[in-house]
Amino acid sequence: MRALAVGLLVAGTVLVPTGAANAGTTLGTSAAEKGRYFGAAVGTYKFNDNTYMTVLNREFNSLVAENEMKWDATEPQRGVFNFSAGDRIVNHARSRGMKVRGHTLLWHAQQPGWAQGLSGGDLRNAAINHVTQVASHFRGQIYSWDVVNEAFADGGSGARRDSNLQRTGNDWIEAAFRAARAADPGAKLCYNDYNTDGINAKSTGIYNMVRDFKQRGVPIDCVGFQSHLGTTIAGDYQANLQRFADLGVDVEITELDVTQGGNQANIYATVTRACLAISRCTGITVWGVRDCDSWRGSDNALLFDCAGNKKPAYTAVLDALNGGTTPNPTGNRFRNEGSGRCLDVNGASSANGAQMIIWDCHSNANQQFTQNGRALQVMGKCLDVPNNAAAGTRVQIYDCHGGANQQWNVNSNGTISNAQTGLCLDVNGAATANGSAVIVWGCHGGANQRWARA
Ligand code: XIL
Repeated sequence: MRALAVGLLVAGTVLVPTGAANAGTTLGTSAAEKGRYFGAAVGTYKFNDNTYMTVLNREFNSLVAENEMKWDATEPQRGVFNFSAGDRIVNHARSRGMKVRGHTLLWHAQQPGWAQGLSGGDLRNAAINHVTQVASHFRGQIYSWDVVNEAFADGGSGARRDSNLQRTGNDWIEAAFRAARAADPGAKLCYNDYNTDGINAKSTGIYNMVRDFKQRGVPIDCVGFQSHLGTTIAGDYQANLQRFADLGVDVEITELDVTQGGNQANIYATVTRACLAISRCTGITVWGVRDCDSWRGSDNALLFDCAGNKKPAYTAVLDALNGGTTPNPTGNRFRNEGSGRCLDVNGASSANGAQMIIWDCHSNANQQFTQNGRALQVMGKCLDVPNNAAAGTRVQIYDCHGGANQQWNVNSNGTISNAQTGLCLDVNGAATANGSAVIVWGCHGGANQRWARA
């Protein structure tokens, strides 16, 4: 108990930079109380839609152009620039005190036809001129620029993606960052990509580039994690953000959307809590306002339905923003960080041998634990793992007898370890679905082994 209290105190000091926060009632105000922004990607062609604008203006305190600041939009002919749509977004944001993210200066996609036809030194010159002109035009108005977008390959190589820009030489990214810094010294400069939602070959390739840039003094301030997600989320999502933050850059969630039909609300909440848990995570942007505004077709991947109503995913995000960094230390439930679900006796059984699973947090007795010394009591029984159980054994409840296999240490890093074997309570396979088994496993402190009082 003492260890838990100390852990929460430390977490509270680090994670709530703005001090005591009130619960906000919109995404923007709640995020602001946690010292962060909550933004949306917008398209000016929706600006005359009243439902859209009502939600946008009420909920968000940051905007990014979904398409209007891309190369094809801003430089349709070589040396001929068009900033009218981008300016409209900036003006709307500024008139309402919202931040603006800039997206994106260089990318292999959505290039104007004339640039697609260039190569070599000619393309390099055109690209760097583009960076300079666009960043100069918006100078002083952009919170952070996605200077380079999606320059790494998918899959296991960890290498750069082939593109016309990459073929101008491996140094094209640092050249772009230097040009952007010179043009707008006040903007944070980000590298932005997708499929970087855990520690994998692609994210590690980017990590190595960022580390190299920091070592060599190439100006980079932030890494954007697009976070276009399906029905699962990597168990090490937060750990991945953290390793980048530890390099001395900010991290931002830049294009969040999540397939509906799986775990949508939970995944949104998990992403939100991950950002709140990292002091250098400065904000979250969702890639659109309503499901029908989304580039993801029928995935219904956003926080509002087509009529502008708040979805369960919205409530999950708002709850996470309002409570995400301050788990209730006197709560009787144990919420797993990887899944967002609670430690639960399967079927609300009180029989010896009833197995532990994770399930949506609720207020029924089969999720309510009483700590009695090092015993964790639930349903009138004790949390138990068979004597000298090997890693992989399922955790159950059993008549309390005080044996070492029923003694648990609630550790300050969020893990709960068995006094007899030292193994940790673990969601098998880092699964996130309701009903996933809880086992004991060697302690590694990953999100599927961290449990917060809730
Ligand atoms: C998408 C837009 O949402 C679409 O409207 C457009 O047709 C294609 O681009 N990664 C990015 C974004 O960085 O710029 C993409 O936006 C989505 C994937």
